[in-house]
Amino acid sequence: MSKQTLTITDNRTGETIEVPIGHDTIKALDLRQLKAQPDDFGMMAYDPGYTNTASCKSRITYVDGDRGILRYRGYPIEQLAQESAFLEAAYLLIFGELPSADELAHWNERIMRHTHIHENLADLLKTFRHDAHPMGILISAIAAMSTLHPEAKQVHDNQRRLQQIWRILGALPTVAAFSYQNRLGRPYTHPHSALGYIDNFLYMMNPMNQDDGEVDPVLARALDALFILHADHEQNCSTSALRNIASSDADPYSSIAGAAAALYGPLHGGANEAVLRMLTAIGDVKKIPAYLNKVKNREARLMGFGHRVYKNYDPRAQIIKKIAYDVFEVTGGNPLIDIAVELERIALDDEYFASRRLYPNVDFYSGIIYQAMGFPVDMFPVLFVLGRAPGWLAQWVELATDPEQRIARPRQIYLGEDERSYVPLAERA
Ligand code: ACO
Repeated sequence: MSKQTLTITDNRTGETIEVPIGHDTIKALDLRQLKAQPDDFGMMAYDPGYTNTASCKSRITYVDGDRGILRYRGYPIEQLAQESAFLEAAYLLIFGELPSADELAHWNERIMRHTHIHENLADLLKTFRHDAHPMGILISAIAAMSTLHPEAKQVHDNQRRLQQIWRILGALPTVAAFSYQNRLGRPYTHPHSALGYIDNFLYMMNPMNQDDGEVDPVLARALDALFILHADHEQNCSTSALRNIASSDADPYSSIAGAAAALYGPLHGGANEAVLRMLTAIGDVKKIPAYLNKVKNREARLMGFGHRVYKNYDPRAQIIKKIAYDVFEVTGGNPLIDIAVELERIALDDEYFASRRLYPNVDFYSGIIYQAMGFPVDMFPVLFVLGRAPGWLAQWVELATDPEQRIARPRQIYLGEDERSYVPLAERA
């Protein structure tokens, strides 16, 4: 077997060091041995946006961006989306194995019990303006939960951690649904814990304005599959934000609120909302070439396209495209799907997108489905949070139980002024 080391020669000094390789990675700290002068700080790695830096060892989610592969705990996403259910996939992500029937029943029961939220939290949701963006409300509400459950600070206590996991997964759909009802000026529809997780969420939201509160099983199944597809994606922007915050031993509500804030941005989980707005603005298949020209002239981005990791078709986008047609069978079509399909076809044929390996990502088709199901556009990122919560919780548990993890504290390359003396206000030019 070849030697598992890397030899580096520092041409400033002629010094050569040999550092161990583990998992195709070297330890950034090993570079510190390289110094131009004996009293130098030592060499660092510069990596804005963490494009080539592993910040943790993880056993949760595997992504191969070149081959378009996504697996949770080893199970292919295609199988999970087809055969599993969201809470079962959440269990798998958090505990590492598929549950037995008893474990699953207990898990479902614990989470559904926690769908009933504290009255203070329900009251807090009423204090926002009717037109407040639901993500602002959700982020605030998750952070506020830390004030109601101060014992959550005990992040190294297994049982305490488990309680917060049940509570967070239980409460999120209720918070989302209540803030939506507030906007409409409707009274809250309280959770129905005998229903399944997704059925209960749709029952509380009632996005299709059903008189009888009935939930269509096709729509519930579609949303369940969509949530599974969103449930984890290893060290993305929001998960890294969560790990950064939680590395200081912050409670999980504060950490998840921070992760949700990171997800809100249009380059990440806010992209589903941005795609819908983009497709609506394009408005007609005839206008697609003009829009793509704007993208190529860098006057606009093709939202829902491109990914830091996938340089091939995002496997989630393939599955979502299929789900769209199942949903349209129930809801009737969404005229935006024709624009999306044609946009995808033209873009994939275009040298600009092909040469940069830009393909549709998970957000390209999800918004069209959510809209057909009756969700308002600004609720889309909230739906992403609901789906992603198990992944954040799994990553949080992994971090909290990983002896190699320390408080996150990146370095910088300082390029600012050297020391200079303070100038009193009267003497400044
Ligand atoms: N539209 C047009 N050009 C794009 C797009 C896009 N959506 N995405 C990337 N490019 C171009 C860049 O301009 C760049 O071209 P250049 O080399 O000529 O300058 C090249 O492709 C590489 O792009 P980067 O910005 O370096 O890719 P990065 O990995 O930093 O960004 C990102 C990834 C943020 C997802 C980007 O592709 C993007 O902005 N996409 C649109 C927003 C989106 O859909 N986000 C959701 C991602 S999935 C998720 O978070 C759940």
